[in-house]
Amino acid sequence: MKTIVEKIDAAKLADEIEKQKIAAAARLLKEGGVVAFPTETVYGLGADAQNPEASRRIYEAKGRPSDNPLIVHIAAFSDLELITRELPKAAKVLGEHFWPGPLTMIFRKNDRIPLETTGGLDTVAVRMPNHPVALALIKASTGFIAAPSANVSGKPSPTTAEHVFCDMDGRIPMILDGGPVGIGIESTIVDFSEDTPMILRPGFITQEMVQQAIGSVSLDKGLEPDGATAPKAPGMKYRHYAPKAELVLVKGEMCRVIPAINRLVQEAGQQGKRAGVICTEETCGSYQGGIVKSIGSRKEKAGIARHMYGVLREFDELDVDIIFSESFSEEGLGQAIMNRMQKAAGHRVMEV
Ligand code: TXA
Ligand code: MG
Repeated sequence: MKTIVEKIDAAKLADEIEKQKIAAAARLLKEGGVVAFPTETVYGLGADAQNPEASRRIYEAKGRPSDNPLIVHIAAFSDLELITRELPKAAKVLGEHFWPGPLTMIFRKNDRIPLETTGGLDTVAVRMPNHPVALALIKASTGFIAAPSANVSGKPSPTTAEHVFCDMDGRIPMILDGGPVGIGIESTIVDFSEDTPMILRPGFITQEMVQQAIGSVSLDKGLEPDGATAPKAPGMKYRHYAPKAELVLVKGEMCRVIPAINRLVQEAGQQGKRAGVICTEETCGSYQGGIVKSIGSRKEKAGIARHMYGVLREFDELDVDIIFSESFSEEGLGQAIMNRMQKAAGHRVMEV
C-alpha cells in the first residue's frame, strides 16, 4: 500500500485546498480506512469507531494486541451522550473544564460502539482533542473516530508526521501532516465507569488540576512503579513508549547523578557498547563521554514533555546500545513525564 503524506495548514482550514484534503481523508475514514492525523498530544491513527472492520485495521497497522482498547475521539460534547450509558455530573464538569483538550474520560458504553473498538470491554474511552485538523476531520467523517497513538505498538508515540511515516509507511493510505504537536505526551485518562473517579494514566492535565475541578480523584494503584498491582488501563501494562536501546533511569541528587552517569558511560564503552545520555540544558556540559542529548530545561517541564519521545526516537536512529537518563521530580506534569520514562526504561531505575 502506498502511503500519501498530505501537508495541511491548520491556520487555513477555511481555504478550498485544505478543505479538499480534509474531505479526502474523511472519505477514506467513511470507507473503513485508516488515516493518521495530528492532535495536540501526539499523532493518532484514526478509523471509524462504529465500524468493527475499521477498528480491526488499526490493530493490524499498529501490531497491537486486540485486548488493548482504543480511545474514541469526538468533536461535539452532545455526541458523548450518544455512545455512553450514563454521564456522571463530575465528568460533565471535567469535560466542560478541559475539552477540547488532553483529557480522556472512561464511561460505561452502549451498543453504538462495538466491542472490537473497546478491546472487548463494556466501557469506552472518549476524548475531544484540541487541534483544528483533528476536529475538522472528525466533523467531516463519521463523528466518532477511534484513534490510538500512531506508532507501531511498543515504540515511542509519534510527535511529528515524520515519526508516523517511519512507523506506518506502507501500512496505511494517508498521513495528514500538521507539523509537530504542541504537548508531546498522551492525554490524561480519568475513569468514570465506577463509583469514584480515578486517574488511569497521568498526562498534561495533572492530578491537582482534576482535583481543583471536581474534588477528589484517586490514582490507579497499578501506576506505582513497584508493579505489584495490574494497571486498570490495559495499555499501561505493556513495556511501552520504549526506544530500541536499553534505557536506565538514574535517580538521586544531581551532584551524584552526573558522576554516576559518567562512570556508567565509561563502563559501557569498556564493554564495547555505544552509550547515550539524556540530560537537560542545565547539565549538558557536565558529561564527558557518550552521545549526549538534552531533553529541555528543568525550568520548563512542558518542554521536557514535548521533546521526550523525539529524543528517544533520535537515539533509535543513532543505534546506541544503552541510554542513561537523568530523572525528574514527580510534581505536577513531572508525574506524567516520570510515568512514561519509567515505562520506557522497563522500570530499570538506579538510585544513587
Ligand atoms: O493523547 C492521546 O490520548 C492519544 C491521542 C491520539 O488522542 N491517544 C492515545 O491512545 O494515547 P492509545 O491507544 O495509545 O492509548 C490509550 C490508552 C491505552 O492505555 C488503553 O489501554 C486505555 O487508553 N484505554 C482505552 N480505552 C479504555 C477503557 N475502556 N478502559 C480502560 N483503559 C482504556
Ligand atoms: Mg499509545
